[in-house]
Amino acid sequence: MEKEKIKILVIDDDPKVSWILSEGLGDSYDILSAKDGLEGLQMVSKARPELVLLDIKMPGMEGLEVLEKIKSMNRPTEVIMLSGHGETKNVVESIKRGASEFINKPFDVKEVELHIQSVLEKNRLKQELDHLRSELKAKSQHEELIGDCLSMLQIKAVIEQVADSELTVLIRGESGTGKEIVARMLHTLSARKNGPFVKVNCAAIPRELLEAELFGYEKGAFTGAHKTKPGRFEMANKGTIFLDEIGDMPLELQSKLLQVLEQYEFMRVGGIKTIKVDTRIVCATNRDLEKALKEGTIREDLFYRLNEVTLNLPPLRERREDIPLLIEHFLQKYTRLYNKKYHPLSSSTIELLQNFDWPGNVRQLENIIKQMVVREDEKVVLDTIKRHSADSTSPRISTDSASQMDSFSLKKRVGSAVAAEEKALITQALNKTNWNRRKAAKLLEISYRSLLYKIKEYQIGQ
Ligand SMILES: Nc1ncnc2c1ncn2[C@@H]1O[C@H](COP(=O)(O)OP(=O)(O)OP(=O)(O)O)[C@@H](O)[C@H]1O
Ligand SMILES: [Mg+2]
Repeated sequence: MEKEKIKILVIDDDPKVSWILSEGLGDSYDILSAKDGLEGLQMVSKARPELVLLDIKMPGMEGLEVLEKIKSMNRPTEVIMLSGHGETKNVVESIKRGASEFINKPFDVKEVELHIQSVLEKNRLKQELDHLRSELKAKSQHEELIGDCLSMLQIKAVIEQVADSELTVLIRGESGTGKEIVARMLHTLSARKNGPFVKVNCAAIPRELLEAELFGYEKGAFTGAHKTKPGRFEMANKGTIFLDEIGDMPLELQSKLLQVLEQYEFMRVGGIKTIKVDTRIVCATNRDLEKALKEGTIREDLFYRLNEVTLNLPPLRERREDIPLLIEHFLQKYTRLYNKKYHPLSSSTIELLQNFDWPGNVRQLENIIKQMVVREDEKVVLDTIKRHSADSTSPRISTDSASQMDSFSLKKRVGSAVAAEEKALITQALNKTNWNRRKAAKLLEISYRSLLYKIKEYQIGQ
């Protein structure tokens, strides 16, 4: 297939300019032209050229104004200014407003080509750097498993030992203890690190859809299956699949999963072809699997197969010595993220935080520190803790009244009031049951699945 040429837009009222450039550079680039600023801007947003050659002096909208408008579009479009004699002042001004280069008229096409190459190369490097930076950021956000207590050190040692093996790892622990961080570490510390990491929350996907989601389906397999779709297992080929809340996998799917665990092959829903995958399986649960085994909601053979390596993450209240370290870590993280001034917490606050029981574990601690940083106030958040400790009802979630008052739409106002009430009630139920989500669901008289869905939707405890 022929590679698509890079688009360069020439904005100049003199048609000779774009004609010369098309003749000279048309073989290597796709040269577009516009005769004035207005037409030029429209073409920038429609055709999305990588580079614009822009004349400074034009009738109608001046080059400098066009430049400013292009830059305000927030796209990675580079601009080279074309200037006639005696326009030095404008040249300086245009560089200030974000132009990458300027070329004096009349120009030599070869010279223009060199400028274009250098600007495009710089732009490519800049984008590559941005990409690397954001990747690095995403990694560092996930991978740091903070904790120096004995049990955490042991866990870190096992992670390092087994990360690069093909052993199936089961991660257990209460909500918010860091199971997902561990799953990601197992991936990034393995030879599969450049492959995909695919997460599936088995509890949050409706039962009827889970099989199709995991294994994919063939066109026509069921109503609505308009085309063949690969499942998450196929997406995770050469990488890792993280099956979160594995204890909630419906029994009828467990045997299919077992087959994948044993033979690394399966069929899509409605398919007849066996599909092979090369993927590492990591599972997590906060359920009591031994109890599930007794109750018959999890297959015994699957249970033993998953149990090859088990990592038990301790609840935060069992490793209180790590709390100051975690506080420091989150203070640094959020002061940096929100550009706030760093203030260490007072020793009395640290003591209070260290004595709290943390039903929502590290996630809850992280959330509290984040609020302290954002509000720049220790006290507000401490009051919340004290209220929790006293086991009174949880605080009502404030319903951003200012923005709501702007709207008289009955539907919107009622909708957001209901959502706020729902969020507050769910938060109360979770606090009352020490974040035992099954008990909370019972209390709220809703299904466990819809509770998980709502926790996610309202970002409760995050
Ligand atoms: N040891 C730790 N060090 C640093 N951050 C942590 C640690 N444990 C948890 N966190 C943070 O707490 C939050 C919750 O962690 P994570 O999502 O891994 O929990 P989880 O065990 O998967 O919870 P759930 O069962 O609710 O899914 C994340 O923001 C994570 O970064
Ligand atoms: Mg999780």
